[in-house]
Amino acid sequence: MFIREDRHDDGHFSTRSVHAGEPKEKPFGSLTMPIVQTSTYHFEDTAALIAHMERKEAELEPLRGEYGRYGNPTQEVVERKLAALEGGEGALVMASGMAAITATLLTLLSAGDHYILTDDCYRKTRQWSMEVMARMGVSCTLAPQGDYQALEEAIRPETRLIVGETPTNPYLRVIDIPRLVEIARRHGVMTLIDATFGTPYNIRPLEHGADLVVHSATKYLGGHNDLLAGVVIGRAGQIKAINELNNMLGAVAAPHTLYLLLRGLKTLGLRMARHNENGQQVAEFLATHPAVRQVWYPGLDSHPDHEVASQLMTGFGGVISFELDTDLEGTAAFIDALELPYMGPSLGGVESIVEQPALMSHFTLDDAEREALGIRGELVRYALGIEDTEDLIADLAQALERVPAALLSTAEGSDRE
Ligand SMILES: Cc1ncc(COP(=O)(O)O)c(C=O)c1O
Repeated sequence: MFIREDRHDDGHFSTRSVHAGEPKEKPFGSLTMPIVQTSTYHFEDTAALIAHMERKEAELEPLRGEYGRYGNPTQEVVERKLAALEGGEGALVMASGMAAITATLLTLLSAGDHYILTDDCYRKTRQWSMEVMARMGVSCTLAPQGDYQALEEAIRPETRLIVGETPTNPYLRVIDIPRLVEIARRHGVMTLIDATFGTPYNIRPLEHGADLVVHSATKYLGGHNDLLAGVVIGRAGQIKAINELNNMLGAVAAPHTLYLLLRGLKTLGLRMARHNENGQQVAEFLATHPAVRQVWYPGLDSHPDHEVASQLMTGFGGVISFELDTDLEGTAAFIDALELPYMGPSLGGVESIVEQPALMSHFTLDDAEREALGIRGELVRYALGIEDTEDLIADLAQALERVPAALLSTAEGSDRE
């Protein structure tokens, strides 16, 4: 609505991530898209107001701003850029990844509808589906990740949607999107893919026939661990419907956040190339280390989805999950011995972040619940940043050397008590 010039959405990935969606001439001759820090817009006179309202009444694209909850010039540029990177007709940026997921589900589903969610997925998406959507009369079935027969058998006459994540958290499972889409289409069901771990650099679900793609832009898209945002991308009509709902929900991203996201997107290709390289090399290092029991990384032959990942993805990203040949305490000691990464939730930024899911994302669950999800105490999720590979490996090597020593000192400590 604010931007009417060409989108510059041709060229290769980084050319698009720098230029797509942006008018070359910006206000005041600024090279970068300014932050338009306003909550509202004013009209020059009553004739301008009526012209705007008449367009709105006729459901035509507005040609100017009205109120901050309905849009912002920086938001529009980010949305056009993301649509160009993902290969969608339209995009809607919102306050967080969860805002994008919940607003999309609320738009697509009504009481009496049913949907399917693949089970290795972000915990809050599962919780929202099983608890909140259920309260609104929308039922959800969890389908085991990678079991396409079970997924098809879960489809009912009232099934409207299949939701999947790729790669998943924490086991980096990769969906065979063409296969999922084929099943969904045969039953007249829509598909929504959360490709937060994939990014449009590594995988573009719409190109494989998915109807909608969502991202937590908080992760790789923003890329600097300094913002919260989400985006949904798809056909223009679908995005318009989600936008209309979000105009009421109000989960909008702030102008400054939108600027940070726009800035982060310009280096997405460069950052992803490094994340991919770090991921592959660190995964290969871990896979041969005697203190490591198992590694999950789609770039390794040993990963259950290595073949499909190799067909669909450019690279496999910077997140690696692995189990150490010790116990929960030994794993905690290993994490404490790491010097480079921060310990915390989240992923996809320039700084490496490590977590022990049993003590972080799955802390509130009891052992049986964690066991059911396959989350062992020895599991580590390492979200590699863009530091140099050799430094990341050297840091891991020194911390792994301390695993048996840490266990020994714990045992000695408990003997003394
Ligand atoms: C795969 C995935 N989807 C969605 C989300 C939610 O995103 P946000 O934290 O931006 O709301 C996350 C957050 O960790 C995630 O990992």
